[in-house]
Amino acid sequence: MHRRVSLVLLVSLFVLSSCGSSIEGKYGVDLFQASCATCHAGDLSGGFGPPLGFNSNSALNLTDEQIGNSIRVGPGAMPAFSQLDDEQIASLVEFLRWMQQGE
Ligand code: HEC
Repeated sequence: MHRRVSLVLLVSLFVLSSCGSSIEGKYGVDLFQASCATCHAGDLSGGFGPPLGFNSNSALNLTDEQIGNSIRVGPGAMPAFSQLDDEQIASLVEFLRWMQQGE
């Protein structure tokens, strides 16, 4: 049962990450809404987790590599997302950087 749920999740993550032509796929926005928005809010204003967007220090002061590492390892009370592959991590970082521009 649990196994099937993770399989479905994996397959949908794969589908999400492979449709790279849309802006959603490109900026990891779908992945963020699905995996991260519960704690960081869809607009990155924060909640259980710190705000990550424009004017926030949590992600702005980190390098892309450090952000990727944080997502994989899960700092403090954040869960680890070790199941995400490099492409998915890169799209999440791209999404965060894009949001940080405050457009
Ligand atoms: C269960 C809640 C939760 C979820 C889900 C979650 N986070 Fe977090 N996140 C946190 C908390 C809490 C912190 C602060 C951790 C600390 O330093 O104590 C944090 C910190 C961060 C930071 C700052 C990292 C650092 O090293 O200071 C980034 C970037 C981040 N999260 C990105 C993400 C991304 C991307 C996702 C989705 C893949 C995600 N988070 C999912 C709770 C969450």
